[in-house]
Amino acid sequence: MRYKLSGKGISDGYTTAISGSNAVQICPNSSPRLERLALPELGVSDVHVKMLAAPVNPSDINMVQGTYAILPELPAVGGNEGVGQVLEVGSQVTSLRAGDWVIPQDAGLGTWRTEAVLNEGTLAVVPSDVPLLCAASLSVNPCTAFRMLSDFEPAARYRDCVIQNAANSGVGQAVIQIAATRGIHTINIVRDRCVSLCLSQQLLKMF
Ligand SMILES: NC(=O)c1ccc[n+]([C@@H]2O[C@H](COP(=O)([O-])OP(=O)(O)OC[C@H]3O[C@@H](n4cnc5c(N)ncnc54)[C@H](OP(=O)(O)O)[C@@H]3O)[C@@H](O)[C@H]2O)c1
Repeated sequence: MRYKLSGKGISDGYTTAISGSNAVQICPNSSPRLERLALPELGVSDVHVKMLAAPVNPSDINMVQGTYAILPELPAVGGNEGVGQVLEVGSQVTSLRAGDWVIPQDAGLGTWRTEAVLNEGTLAVVPSDVPLLCAASLSVNPCTAFRMLSDFEPAARYRDCVIQNAANSGVGQAVIQIAATRGIHTINIVRDRCVSLCLSQQLLKMF
């Protein structure tokens, strides 16, 4: 499931005043809540980012449930990946500039918010001409698929065959595409349901 974040009362322009951010906050012993959070002042090494899109991954849900292996100190803003656009940079920032699209360098950044002030080192630039939803979901599932195909012994090689269930999942679709580029065959299993034919056709286009 994916959704696009939009900030009520927040300008889309590059000159947006740093004021506040709408954020999905995870608090102890309660359901996640939409909160208005103040933004800190922009430090010399900081970047002011407007979030464009952020997914909800299974691990995000586990984090909210408190069952994931890595848990943030609460309260915390939810969301571990997404893509944002740089609105403004601090005076000593050299690697980023206004207009750049950025994704988190690591998990735990808290991407379910409309705006954030973040240290330059926590972000990586991505090309702004890739589809928005691809950029927003670049770091978790494609990397996992890549590692699954590369790190197991023996690693999957040209003309090998990989079989997977949940092949229509985010990870599964990445497995199909990465395997195809490496000449690895895949057998892809999905749950039987009324849209199965349409789904198979969609997956076949990824080969
Ligand atoms: N680094 C990591 O370890 C890592 C990273 C990313 C993901 N993961 C794991 O990989 C899995 C897929 O993640 P994702 O983000 O790609 O998921 P996703 O896009 O949300 O897809 C979920 C998949 O699970 C299937 N599914 C759900 N409930 C099921 C059930 N009861 N029986 C059989 N199939 C069921 C769904 O099938 P339908 O479409 O038919 O409902 C769909 O194919 C998750 O377990 C996630 O935690 C691990």
